[in-house]
Amino acid sequence: MISDLKPNKPEPISIPNEIAIFNRGADVDLTIKILEAGKLVLITEFYNNGAVLLKELQNYLHIKLPNKSFKEQREYRSAYQKLSNLIVIEIVNHQLEVKKAPAIGWFEKLYPETKDFLLTLPQVQGLNSAWQWYQNGISIPTLRNKIHPYYGVYFPTRFEHLELFDNWLKRYDGSKKSAIDVGIGSGILALQLVKHGFQKVFGTDTNPNAIVGLKESMGTTKLSRKIELDFASLFGKWNKPSELIVFNPPWLPELRSSDHLDEAIYYNKTLFNDFFEAAKERLLPDGKLVLIFSNLAQITGVAKTNPIEQEIAEGGRFKLERCFTKNVKKASEKTKRDAHWRNDEVVELWVLVHK
Ligand SMILES: C[S@@+](CC[C@H](N)C(=O)[O-])C[C@H]1O[C@@H](n2cnc3c(N)ncnc32)[C@H](O)[C@@H]1O
Repeated sequence: MISDLKPNKPEPISIPNEIAIFNRGADVDLTIKILEAGKLVLITEFYNNGAVLLKELQNYLHIKLPNKSFKEQREYRSAYQKLSNLIVIEIVNHQLEVKKAPAIGWFEKLYPETKDFLLTLPQVQGLNSAWQWYQNGISIPTLRNKIHPYYGVYFPTRFEHLELFDNWLKRYDGSKKSAIDVGIGSGILALQLVKHGFQKVFGTDTNPNAIVGLKESMGTTKLSRKIELDFASLFGKWNKPSELIVFNPPWLPELRSSDHLDEAIYYNKTLFNDFFEAAKERLLPDGKLVLIFSNLAQITGVAKTNPIEQEIAEGGRFKLERCFTKNVKKASEKTKRDAHWRNDEVVELWVLVHK
């Protein structure tokens, strides 16, 4: 049942009897020694003391691990991650127990049964920025209303692929009774489908936060009768064939198996084959299968093949109707350094039909 679904959230830490504290008067060297001994340090008095300690930790590690070679950079990052995650903040009555702290509504929403607990500072910083996105919303060029992404749910920061989809939908002249949106995320493609007149959209996602978030944002509005959700992999319970199936899958192959990989970004070895196999049964004879993809994995060298091209060449299930592409805007000056390959990045809209 979707109503019992629990979203993922940072694990609360219970408050220990004894804990070192860090505030304006605290000895920085001693505090870092405590962290290095693997013990927790609690930020007290002002929220900003947390940022101060993080900065001190960075300075300390820069001297210890000068960051010159690739190996040193990795050591620096892993040491910083380990130590910063021992810095904790107290939450009392669903609020940060320090002065001048941001109000973060996730405490109440995500931890209804636990009012008092600790979280690490990096977790709190993550919750804080997610709360800003959620509250202020994000304008999407192809949608009239802002979206309000729930904690832990993927949302796009560039929109070329959504423009491709919108242009394709403008020209689509098939039936608009129903569509299936695999991996619905924050619901953008489903909202585009509704905007273009689809009567029903059946969405799935393996991320509980996506389902909980959409359920909450649709509430009992008209939209909640147009977009139906299932917390499940691929097509979930949506077995009835549809005239349109859309999937904006993860764009990068996972490089090593791990439980912690973000399923919005990395695909595993079987995802595409499983998807096409199931899609074959759920696409009406004249239906269209639309996939949104990018050459990101190929231009960064992490993948040799494009899994959609591979399906068309070898799968024996679908053939290509058309592929539309659009260049991704150059990265801004600020991010150019890390993103020289962005110049060649292209997003793709693949339209496949039954063979
Ligand atoms: C790149 S995001 C796209 C989200 C949204 N459709 C959009 O275009 O903004 C991919 C989504 O697919 C979901 N996902 C990954 N593997 C899945 C699977 N096997 N079944 C269902 N959803 C999956 C992820 O959790 C994520 O929400």
